[in-house]
Amino acid sequence: MNKEASTIEKKSRTDNSDLIQQIDFSAIPKHVAIIMDGNGRWARARSIPRIQGHRAGVKAVDEVVTCAMEIGIKVLTLYAFSMENWQRPKEEIRALMYLLKEYIIKKITVMKQKNIRFMAIGRIEELPRDIQSLLKQAEDETRQNDGLILNLALSYGGRTEIVDAVRSILKDLSGERIRIDQVDEALISSRLYTAELPDPDIMIRTSGEQRISNFLPWQSVYTELYFSPIWWPDFRRTEFLEAIINFQKRERRFGLTGEQIKTNKGKEDAF
Ligand code: IPE
Ligand code: IPE
Ligand code: MG
Repeated sequence: MNKEASTIEKKSRTDNSDLIQQIDFSAIPKHVAIIMDGNGRWARARSIPRIQGHRAGVKAVDEVVTCAMEIGIKVLTLYAFSMENWQRPKEEIRALMYLLKEYIIKKITVMKQKNIRFMAIGRIEELPRDIQSLLKQAEDETRQNDGLILNLALSYGGRTEIVDAVRSILKDLSGERIRIDQVDEALISSRLYTAELPDPDIMIRTSGEQRISNFLPWQSVYTELYFSPIWWPDFRRTEFLEAIINFQKRERRFGLTGEQIKTNKGKEDAF
């Protein structure tokens, strides 16, 4: 291999220009949701404490956020802490909260510079108070940004989210602000934590597990699912771009026939 060819090969290995070339920039998913799983197993394989796995996972977050911005994704929702995760050992929860706090403090300035809008969804009121106020500060200070929306799911449970939506609707019903016949899919969507966001186009789960684990159940009914065997700390730019390329090869039919989709007449023919 001549020197020039070897330089090009080295370059494409580090910046994945070969993968970038395969991306169809006219069909970038608007909303990508990720279940970041496998930090514990990544650490165990190295005989180091689980928290080191979570720490390594933060680097993967940085890389995926940067890549998402670069290819023009509008919303990135990251599942960082579930309702069920509250049942983990106290020590691990404390360490995760510490990492979260450290992350937000460090990233507020970066997000402002990079035009990222920060959001958090979940039972935020159940998080430690100092974290609640940091999250609010990050949201407030980035509200005007119109680049990537970085949405962290924290103390999040899909069923809890539906319970909260039902409660809010029932309050309005009993206060006679809405009528039963006004309760429809759009109204329910508008009472979810994700009210402002489009439904996810693709949901990625790392670490080989093939389940949703209470993540965005209402919003993901027509989301493309992508399962990767890679543990989250090793899920980097290359793996993320591969997921996007895989998504772009799929045909999303939304209940229509393949022919309807191809002739792009689905909507008119549907009824
Ligand atoms: C995902 O990694 C991070 C959180 C759930 C907070 P895990 O901690 O679940 O890692 P595994 O599944 O035990 O390997
Ligand atoms: C899902 O991972 C939650 C997050 C990634 C935050 P878990 O590791 O908690 O999921 P299960 O328990 O294996 O389904
Ligand atoms: Mg796990």
